[in-house]
Amino acid sequence: MTKKITIAIDGFSSTGKSTIAKLLANKYNYVYVDTGAMYRAITLFAKLNGYVTKDTFNKEALINDLTSISLSFHFNEKIGFSEMYLNNRNVEQQIRTLEVSQLVSKVAEISEVRKKLVLEQQFMGKDGGVVMDGRDIGTVVFPNADLKLFMTASADKRAIRRYKELIDRGDKVTFEDVLFNVEERDRIDSTREDSPLTKAKDAITFDNSDMGITEQFERICSLVDQRLSKI
Ligand code: DC
Repeated sequence: MTKKITIAIDGFSSTGKSTIAKLLANKYNYVYVDTGAMYRAITLFAKLNGYVTKDTFNKEALINDLTSISLSFHFNEKIGFSEMYLNNRNVEQQIRTLEVSQLVSKVAEISEVRKKLVLEQQFMGKDGGVVMDGRDIGTVVFPNADLKLFMTASADKRAIRRYKELIDRGDKVTFEDVLFNVEERDRIDSTREDSPLTKAKDAITFDNSDMGITEQFERICSLVDQRLSKI
């Protein structure tokens, strides 16, 4: 049987975690789990039900409704990766808007939400052969992961990448709003009480402010191969 490991990728927003995770999953034939998409889908649910807006948040109502939320990933062969489904509806496009990005950190602070998602993520990765990206994968979801990466880059570089993505999709956003959102999310994600974004002690830091995707991928693949040779 082929040996398979668990790869945890954490880091700040828009550091290219998902790009690296998808490439790794593809190369090693692993399952890729985008945990940010799960927090975004719950945020979309809360928004559609009027539980959260820019100025208001009915946490109790969301917590009471958590059992009626079903999340799943479905592989889309045309694009070559899995898309997020909320209660059996494809919400991949809707969860990537700046509006959802502006609300998601508030929702991700709630312990009941985190408890539900962490259990689902642990279940998805229980057999190994998984690449999971997020904010608490190496610290909370899989503290014993075989390889932990921590991705970072300057806020400016990250905002430029995110801005381009949104403009390419046809969203009407300003660079200033995107930069503000990137910095604000990092602040909330790193200072929340439950499972804040921190680098696991045994994680390897990748600052990709000035590193292209090919170089990053090659370096990370050699780390994966090292781990694989030891099991
Ligand atoms: O990876 P992303 O930018 O799509 O994540 C969206 C938000 O979800 C992020 O700002 C914080 C939250 N999140 C989290 O708290 N824990 C995770 N494991 C993944 C994401």
